[in-house]
Amino acid sequence: MVSKDIKSFFVQRLNDWAAANKRPLPWKNEPDPYLIWLSEIILQQTRVAQGMPYYEAFKAHFPNVQVLAAAPEDEIMRLWQGLGYYSRARNLHQTAKTIAIQYQGKFPDTYEEIRALKGVGPYTAAAIASFAFGLPYAVVDGNVSRVLSRFLGIDTPIDSTIGKKLFQDLADTLLDRNDPGKYNQQLMDFGAVHCTPQQPLCPQCPLQSECIAFRQKKTAQLPVKNKKITKTKRYFHYLVPKFDSQTLIRKRTQQDIWKHLYEFPLIETEQANLDIHDLLAQNHTTLDWWKPEQLIEIRQTGPHKQQLTHQTIIATFWELELQQIEQNQLPDQFVCINWKNLDKFAFPRIIDWYLKDNSLNLFSQVQQN
Ligand code: ADE
Ligand code: SF4
Repeated sequence: MVSKDIKSFFVQRLNDWAAANKRPLPWKNEPDPYLIWLSEIILQQTRVAQGMPYYEAFKAHFPNVQVLAAAPEDEIMRLWQGLGYYSRARNLHQTAKTIAIQYQGKFPDTYEEIRALKGVGPYTAAAIASFAFGLPYAVVDGNVSRVLSRFLGIDTPIDSTIGKKLFQDLADTLLDRNDPGKYNQQLMDFGAVHCTPQQPLCPQCPLQSECIAFRQKKTAQLPVKNKKITKTKRYFHYLVPKFDSQTLIRKRTQQDIWKHLYEFPLIETEQANLDIHDLLAQNHTTLDWWKPEQLIEIRQTGPHKQQLTHQTIIATFWELELQQIEQNQLPDQFVCINWKNLDKFAFPRIIDWYLKDNSLNLFSQVQQN
């Protein structure tokens, strides 16, 4: 399907492009498989610009796999805060423990062993195997499949079962076995900065003369994707109690977004605009920790909006100033904490935004600390 000539053209031109377009990133030319793994896990579904400070922070806090394995989960969650997909952070921790115990802290050095680690899929395994150990495995991520589908003019959906196999096969065929790590990195970079999803830089592209999508004027139609992401809207009403300098939080444990992060008492609704008093009345049986006659004041902040991959969260924060919190009526998972200690817990980003909101009067001293 890909001739030898096309392959050598592709490899050569890509290499020339990379020589002229250096993209210095902190994990490039990093020989330590632990740090490569760390960077790749952080960068899964994260833009490089967003992931970079997280990578630096994790590297500084956890310079090797033993330190990461021994860290408390809450510390990892706190550093991960804002990256989303929190199961990745938990897998990161679990895998660090596996490597520390099962492999005595020495990162596994075969593709099969790397692939078997929790949270490591074919892409990440190929990245680690090729970057750290020079093994001949081709990475296929969104960037790579976009470049290949355009350059070779292939309209098989990149997210279909057949498409995934096809693009992996094509990537394996085109892989430069002389230096797989360098080649993989070049191809990802090319997709990220040159053959971009919107407005690829075709006029100055070194692959242009052999690029099928360019010749057939199909760059805007490629790659083809099957799935249209449906976004549901969820309305979160956070009740933020204040009594003395205490408030209530709990850790989310259900199978839902933000598992293992903390939050205030939550009422979720399907409609946007609600009267807070109706909402409280309707839910009062689950809100045993306060009594209506103990309410001094309600203040509203938000709504804040957070876009996740498959859903939009619209959160309104209702600050309830109370004369008292019924400590012995707290549902199991809730803890009463001093609001000065809020910054010791990992919250979803939308709650962070709320806590940092300058218009906020209730917890205004938090941000000054
Ligand atoms: N995205 C994910 N991994 C990457 C890497 N190693 N270099 C550039 N972008 C990336
Ligand atoms: Fe991508 Fe355009 Fe270059 Fe083809 S010519 S590889 S579509 S940038």
